[in-house]
Amino acid sequence: MSLSPGSPDSAAGSVAVDPNLDFAGTTPYEDYVQADVLTHLQHLRSDDPGEMVFLVTTQVMELWFTVIVHEWETAGRALREDRVPVAMDALKRSVRELEALNHSWRPLAQLTPAQFNAYRSALGEGSGFQSAMYRRMEFLLGEKSASMLVPHRGAPRVHSELEKALHEPSLYDEVLALLARRGLPVPAAVLGRDLAQRYEPSAEVEAVWAGIYADADQNGELVRLGEALSDVAELVWRWRNDHLVATRRAMGAKTGTGGSAGVAWLEKRAQKNVFPELWTARSHV
Ligand code: HEM
Repeated sequence: MSLSPGSPDSAAGSVAVDPNLDFAGTTPYEDYVQADVLTHLQHLRSDDPGEMVFLVTTQVMELWFTVIVHEWETAGRALREDRVPVAMDALKRSVRELEALNHSWRPLAQLTPAQFNAYRSALGEGSGFQSAMYRRMEFLLGEKSASMLVPHRGAPRVHSELEKALHEPSLYDEVLALLARRGLPVPAAVLGRDLAQRYEPSAEVEAVWAGIYADADQNGELVRLGEALSDVAELVWRWRNDHLVATRRAMGAKTGTGGSAGVAWLEKRAQKNVFPELWTARSHV
């Protein structure tokens, strides 16, 4: 087979045009994707052959966190502008992305303690707990916490992005503001809440969702929005639980590299549901 551009394809009896091979500098693919940068960011710290997939899975998850943050910021902006279809498109994309993110657990889901120990000490005090992009996801879900900025004091860009996200409305704040603009009785205290604090469930908001779900014919668009948010919440819960089970398999009840109690601490974190009233309202429909 010839590598020269534009060689005749005699089998088909027609002229097939081959891809370009001739570029003065780096390829246009490289210029866009930066694959050379991306595939040289794997600085292993042990000789164990299993460390590579641990590091790359973590990097892949960071990239998915970045995409999902982008989708939820898009959805939040669109909701603020009352462009619900644009928000729905971004939320639905994020659901597919969360599914892909969750499938990324597969290569790490069945590590034995001996396999994990083979490179665990190379991680030092490094822990996913220190992931700033994961915190941005949590902030967008309404799980705000100023103390989560503390580990990033030494990294000005990361710290200022997180600080900005702490004070901005979460995706759920934007949803509740939309419901209020549609005339639904979302309490003023919820609408005017301190955005830097964790969102606390409200009985009145629960009643608003119960009312929306009780009359799906009248509230089709809002029910679809509620269901897209429930899909997001369910997949976040699944990510946390898959992480918990992978951790339980890989290290039992040992202390985490980040200094927490490990599985016991993760168990508490994995119990919670984001967008709480979307779950509790179901008991009243
Ligand atoms: C089997 C491999 C893994 C084990 C054994 C493990 C273990 C742990 C432990 C024990 C914690 C609690 C904090 C600590 O003391 O370190 C934690 C937190 C965390 N890990 Fe992992 N982890 C694994 C893989 C991953 C991967 C691939 C990611 C992807 C980025 C990740 C992201 C996180 C995040 C975001 C937290 C904080 C959770 C929260 O704040 O609720 N972990 N991990």
